[in-house]
Amino acid sequence: MMLNKIFYFSGTGNSLFAARQIVEKLDNVELVAISEAMNNCDSLEAERIGFVFPVYAWGLPRIVADFVKQIKLSGEEYTFAVATCGGTPGNTLIQLKELLNKSGGDLKAGFAVREASYTFLEENIFMKIMRNIAGEPPLPFAERLSEIIEVVENKQQHKLETSSKLANFLGGMIHKGAIKQFKEAAADFWSTEDCNLCGKCVELCPRGNISLVDDSPVWGDDCELCFACIQWCPEEAIQYQEVSIGKQRDHNKQISLEDMIE
Ligand SMILES: Cc1cc2nc3c(=O)[nH]c(=O)nc-3n(C[C@H](O)[C@H](O)[C@H](O)COP(=O)(O)O)c2cc1C
Repeated sequence: MMLNKIFYFSGTGNSLFAARQIVEKLDNVELVAISEAMNNCDSLEAERIGFVFPVYAWGLPRIVADFVKQIKLSGEEYTFAVATCGGTPGNTLIQLKELLNKSGGDLKAGFAVREASYTFLEENIFMKIMRNIAGEPPLPFAERLSEIIEVVENKQQHKLETSSKLANFLGGMIHKGAIKQFKEAAADFWSTEDCNLCGKCVELCPRGNISLVDDSPVWGDDCELCFACIQWCPEEAIQYQEVSIGKQRDHNKQISLEDMIE
């Protein structure tokens, strides 16, 4: 039997948890972090190829788009995707299909599932607007798992799940600009005197964008705004702008810091 592969990206653990659940239920699957596969995975051979990742600003995270642009597919493989989101997936799965088409493949099934959102962006004006026009949020991942497994096991076609037409349209416009801004968001992260230089943030960063210089972490200009560094810091010594001050740190409870680093 040929191998199945699932590529995942996860900042706060939701997508890693979802990917692991799928791996447990399917035979013969290799689970690969997109951050690891970047730059050393151009030609892919697998019977089924899955992508599990979060929705960022109603579209694909930059790292997922960059990864899909660099792979080559034969068109013979069965491809599927699970996008985890806090409420509004927008056009994310359509974006993925378009990129996969350019890489020689296709997207046969695309699921949007709801999970908790651990950002400090709740007061963002775009978030508020989109919440009001998005329509019903998708069902939680746990309620979709058996359906997802059945579709993927049988290599079935499944419609790519999106938000309302209006939300897709606006989300599509917002996404491009937002993703550019996220790249530079690193300038908004800073560390406090609680930092003990453990280096976990360096290991967690999917872009290798954090280094320890002298007595503090330093962020480069290649940020995904995944919030991994701030949400997993064992000392809670990282802040984002002023908005995280005094706020509780949080992430998917079924995933540990070790899982994230592994
Ligand atoms: C920068 C950023 C942008 C986000 N944008 C959206 C969005 O447009 N729509 C949405 O429903 N959730 C959005 N979220 C929430 C995440 O998609 C959601 O929490 C996801 O499950 C996180 O996955 P992870 O834990 O694997 O990182 C965003 C999160 C971040 C960090």
